[in-house]
Amino acid sequence: MQKLTIRCPDDMHLHLRDGANLKRSVADSAYRFARAIVMPNLVPPISNTAQALGYRERILSALPADLDFEPLMTLYLTETLSPDEIVVAQQSGFIHGIKLYPAGATTNAEFGVSRMERVYPVLERMEKLAMPLLVHGEVVDPEVDAFDREAVFIERELAPLMARFPGLRIVFEHITTREAVDFVRGGPAHLVATVTAHHLLLNRNALFAGGMRPHHYCLPLLKRESHRQALLEAATSGDPKFFLGTDSAPHTRHAKESACGCAGIYTAHAAIELYAEAFASANALSRLEVFASQYGADFYGLPYNSESMALEEIAVEVPSSLFFGEEALVPFRAGEQLAWRLSS
Ligand code: DOR
Ligand code: ZN
Repeated sequence: MQKLTIRCPDDMHLHLRDGANLKRSVADSAYRFARAIVMPNLVPPISNTAQALGYRERILSALPADLDFEPLMTLYLTETLSPDEIVVAQQSGFIHGIKLYPAGATTNAEFGVSRMERVYPVLERMEKLAMPLLVHGEVVDPEVDAFDREAVFIERELAPLMARFPGLRIVFEHITTREAVDFVRGGPAHLVATVTAHHLLLNRNALFAGGMRPHHYCLPLLKRESHRQALLEAATSGDPKFFLGTDSAPHTRHAKESACGCAGIYTAHAAIELYAEAFASANALSRLEVFASQYGADFYGLPYNSESMALEEIAVEVPSSLFFGEEALVPFRAGEQLAWRLSS
């Protein structure tokens, strides 16, 4: 049996939701991660510092008494966000990034940006203050093939944005394509990317295996196998530009199994175990620690966590559903096996 001990990891891209739903999501993440960059796409969105601080308190109130966890908050970039709010956010010490959703690109993205020019003054202030921009990198143009939306975003939006704000610190979130890997690699040191466990483990065939699989529907969509391989190679290469961000995104069973189901895959119940499986598949377990516990902290200017965590290669079955507030949540690998588990 293989065993692995690593410094406690951080999840640099996480959806926790709010209210009664926090109990499940916060506990699952806090059990595995010391800190997480928390996404602001609530309804209404977390779009100023006061709201983010309130949300942070609600997250901490939902934390089980025996666990430590530090939520690293973000603000939602709306077209009405003021540049001065970036100063307030930074001075609070609790806000670590500003999230850009192209309007309509994904779950609760309707409050996002439809014309990039409208947020130039905010981006200029962020560049000056070294506040990171966290980017959902997909175009929303309905003429563009759904599987090409990330690659087209690079050309149409991201490259021009970087030319205009060359010093802006950017996280290209949950990358899914070879084009994104190449673009990040070829860019400046302050352009980095997060990679999810599900995009490392699945290709787009998983959406249609034996029938429609709503629990494999996320955005950006799973891509073809050659892209998955490019992601796995990048994540396991030891390049500090690529680090862990699960994009774990819980939705109720009801919201997923629907005629128009929500995008999002819940991996928080087994996130580090799933990354261990992906890294083991590439014979790269020795590189899991830098990817999961160091490179993200380096980018965000955070100290490394001092605690460690142990994993062992023993198969465990995932429940077919979990409690999520009053409702049910179908987790990744529901009713199937994980190859790794946390060891005490
Ligand atoms: O699959 C996704 N789910 N992608 C996103 O960008 C948002 C997320 C969510 O909030 O559900
Ligand atoms: Zn996300």
